[in-house]
Amino acid sequence: MDLSKCKIIKLPKIADKRGNLTFIEENRHLPFEIKRVYYTYDVPGGETRGGHAHKNLHQLIIAMSGSFDVVLGDGHNKKRFHLNRAYFGLYVPSMIWRELDNFSSGSVCLVLVSEHYNEEDYIRDYNIYKKTLVENK
Ligand code: TYD
Repeated sequence: MDLSKCKIIKLPKIADKRGNLTFIEENRHLPFEIKRVYYTYDVPGGETRGGHAHKNLHQLIIAMSGSFDVVLGDGHNKKRFHLNRAYFGLYVPSMIWRELDNFSSGSVCLVLVSEHYNEEDYIRDYNIYKKTLVENK
């Protein structure tokens, strides 16, 4: 898996004088079925989250409120994405290393996931991640 598969997906935005509405339909706006949704909030300033890759699952990461950065890596290259709009999602396929930082105060990070929670799907050690990339080549 390489970084070129990671992309910003622009979601529909219905705007009128009452405010904005965004919707997401599985297999239409994102390339997987949603089996799980989780969100992080009340992240203290300066804190970092993530620091892992997933063997199989895919995700879409959205800054529902406020902003934060997602740094994605494929073992060779790294790219920093700044998320600050509720109508942009960052698609992250499997075997991509991710770190989240630069959380603004009150930010909410929503994640749509292709699989149920399973700790076995995590690779939390960067050296093991690099080794797995070589083995999967
Ligand atoms: P973790 O994946 O390390 O969070 P982040 O990616 O934001 O750094 O998860 C933190 C803890 O929460 C860890 O003990 C696993 C647990 N957890 C669940 O039980 N279910 C979930 O859906 C998620 C994402 C995490």
